[in-house]
Amino acid sequence: MRKLINETGIDLGVCYYPEHWDRALWAEDLDRMLEAGIGTVRIAEFAWSLIEPREGEYTYEFFDSFLDLAQQKGMQVIFCTPTATPPAWLTEKYPEVLNADMDGHLYRHGSRRHYNYNSPVYREKTRNIVEKSASHYGSHPAIVGWQLDNEFNCENDNFFSDSDTAAFRRFLQERYQTLEALNEAWGTVFWNQTYTEWEEIYVPRRTNTNSVNPHQVLDYYRFVSDSVNSYAKLQADIVRKYKKPEDFITTNGMFSNIDYQRMVRESLDVLTYDSYPDFGYALDGYNSADPMKDRWWSRNLAEVRAVSPNFGIMEQQSGANGWNTRMEAPSPRPGQLTLWTMQSIAHGADYISYFRWRTCTFGTEIYWHGILDYSGRENRRLREVREVSEKLKFLQEIAGAKYVAKVGIVKDYDNIWDARQDRWHSRVDSVSQDALFVVLQQTHTPFDYVYMENHMDSESLKQYDVLFYPHACILTEERMKVLEDYVAAGGKLVMGCRTGYKDLSGRCVMDYLPGLAAKLTGTDIPEYSFVAPDERPVTVEWEGTKFEAAVFNDLLASAGDSAQVLGTYTAGSYADTPALIRNRFGRGEAYYFGGAFAEDTVRVFLEKLGVAEPFGDIISLPEGCELALREKDGRRYLFVLNYKAEQAEIELKAKLYDLFNHREEAGRQTLEKYGVRVYRIGI
Ligand code: GAL
Repeated sequence: MRKLINETGIDLGVCYYPEHWDRALWAEDLDRMLEAGIGTVRIAEFAWSLIEPREGEYTYEFFDSFLDLAQQKGMQVIFCTPTATPPAWLTEKYPEVLNADMDGHLYRHGSRRHYNYNSPVYREKTRNIVEKSASHYGSHPAIVGWQLDNEFNCENDNFFSDSDTAAFRRFLQERYQTLEALNEAWGTVFWNQTYTEWEEIYVPRRTNTNSVNPHQVLDYYRFVSDSVNSYAKLQADIVRKYKKPEDFITTNGMFSNIDYQRMVRESLDVLTYDSYPDFGYALDGYNSADPMKDRWWSRNLAEVRAVSPNFGIMEQQSGANGWNTRMEAPSPRPGQLTLWTMQSIAHGADYISYFRWRTCTFGTEIYWHGILDYSGRENRRLREVREVSEKLKFLQEIAGAKYVAKVGIVKDYDNIWDARQDRWHSRVDSVSQDALFVVLQQTHTPFDYVYMENHMDSESLKQYDVLFYPHACILTEERMKVLEDYVAAGGKLVMGCRTGYKDLSGRCVMDYLPGLAAKLTGTDIPEYSFVAPDERPVTVEWEGTKFEAAVFNDLLASAGDSAQVLGTYTAGSYADTPALIRNRFGRGEAYYFGGAFAEDTVRVFLEKLGVAEPFGDIISLPEGCELALREKDGRRYLFVLNYKAEQAEIELKAKLYDLFNHREEAGRQTLEKYGVRVYRIGI
C-alpha cells in the first residue's frame, strides 16, 4: 500500500458511493478507475443506515464486501464516519439532536447536516456508530485513512437548538466564571441587558431590531468553533484507538466559525479541502468582468496551506456544478480539469481526489456531475483524468515540497469573527483582503496567510520580508509583543485603518488610537471618518505616487522621534493631513496607513517595499497567469498556471528544467489556453 500525503508521492483518488449503484457495477468501476490512474476511493460518509439500519442493530456485510473487493483489486480506501447524515429512525425518536433556526424551529430529516454538535443524545449516538465502524473496519488492509464526518459547518454554520443554549451557558461559565464578569465583558448595562441568572442567557435569538449584543455574538462564534472542535475530537479519539498506526485522520472542506488550527492540533493528521473553482463561473453571481473567477480558489488553497502546509483535496471538481435547486455552473472546459488539479498541487496538495466517479441519477445532486455522466460511458473528462495521471508521473519528486512565500497576510479568528457581524470592520477588511489577493496574484508574488495563535512567538514570522495585518481591530498585548519582536528583528509590518480600537470582547478601548499598536507604529489618530460618497475616491500621495485610501480614513499624526510621515491626504476635507506613517523600530519598520487597501494601493506598497515579482529575474509572464513556488531539500519548483481561454506568452530569463517536457528551456515559451508548466530551478 502506498501512503498518502506524506512525501511519498502525488496521487489521484475519487469519491465513490457503492450504495448508489448495483453491486454488479463495483468491480468494473474499480477496474476502470485503476486503469485511469486512480488508486484511492473515499467512501461511506453518508451511509449510517448501511451499518446501523435500526437503533442498536448492526450489519457490516455491505462495506465488508466492498472493502474486500477493493483489497482484491489493489484499490486503497479512505473510510468515513457517517455522522453528517443521521438516519430517520434517530431524528424521529430523538428530535433534540436536530439543529434549529434562530426562532427555534427544527431542521427536519430530508436533506443533510441537520444535527447539532451539542445534543447529549447525538454525542452518544456518534460515539456508538464511530466505535462500531472504527473497531470493525479499522484494521482492514484496504483502508489508508479516515475522514471525520463530511464538511463540518457546511450548509449551516449557526446552531440554535436547546442543546446549544445549554452548552453555550457552560462555555460562558468556564470563560467568565461569574455573571459579573460576563455582564462587564458584554457591556450588558447598555439597553438594560444585565443577566442575573445563567439560565437567562441563550444563543442569539431573534430580537426586535434584528441586532443582538455584539459581544455576545462574538462569544457565540467562539462557542460554535469550540463545539465543532470538541465534536471532531470525540470522533478522532475513537478512530485513533482502532485505526492502523500508518493511517491518517482528516476531515474535508473549510467553512466558517471553525478554528482549524485547533482542529489539526487536537484531532487531525492533515486537512483535506474540497475545491470547486467552477463556482467562479456560477450562473447566479457570475461576473464576466471579474479577472479572477476560478483563480479565487487559490485564495482558498492559501487558507488551507495556513492550516496544513501539505494537504489533500478530498473533492476536486471534475464536472458541472449544480443541485436541482441551486448553484448552476458549466462543465469544466477542456483543459480546466487539469488546470484546477495543478492549481491544487501548486499550493501544496499531494493527493487529489475527484468528486465524483459517476454522476448520481437520483437525489438533490443530479446535476452535480462527476467524471462520468449517468450512463458511465467513456468520455472526455475521463480521458483528461488519464492525461493528468500521466503528467503526475513527472511531478512525483515534488511530493512533500512546501509552498514558499516572502509576503504574509496576518489573520486571527477574533478579528475574522468580529468582522462577520461588524459592518465597519467587514467593509474595510473585505476591500483590503480582496485587493491584496488580486494584486499579489497579478504581480506573481507568492504569499501565505499567517494566523496569530496563542503562545506563538515571532520565530515563525521571520521567514517573511513583509507582513500585512490590514485591519487588526482587536489587538492583544501578547499579539503585539510577537509583532514587535518580528519588526525589531528586521521585519516590515504594514497595518491599515481601524487597527487596535477593540479589546478581546469586541469593546472599544478608551486609549488613544491605534491603542496597543501606537508604540510600534509611532502613530496617533486624533480623528477618523468613513469616506463620504461625495469625496470618493480619497487619495494619498507618497513620494509623488498617488493611490487610494479606500472606505475609511484615519487622520494621523506621528508620535515619537523614529516616526516619519510618508504620505498625506491630497484633497477634500482632510487635505494635507498625514495618511501614512513609517516608524523605525529596532532593525525593522512598521507602517500605519490610514485607509483600507485598494488595488492601486497594494501595488504601491509591494513596489516600495521591494517585494513584488520576486522571480522577475527568472521569468516574466502575463497577469492572467499565476506563479507559485514549492520547495523541498533545496530544490525549487515554479508552477505557471494559465487561467485564460487564450494562449499566454511567457519568457524564461534563465534556463529552467521543464518537468513535463523533460528538458531545459529558456527564452520565449507559448502556454496553451488553460495550460500549466512546472519548472525546476537549477538542476
Ligand atoms: C461538497 C460535499 C459533497 C457534495 C459536493 C457537491 O460540499 O462534500 O458531498 O455535496 O459538495 O455538492
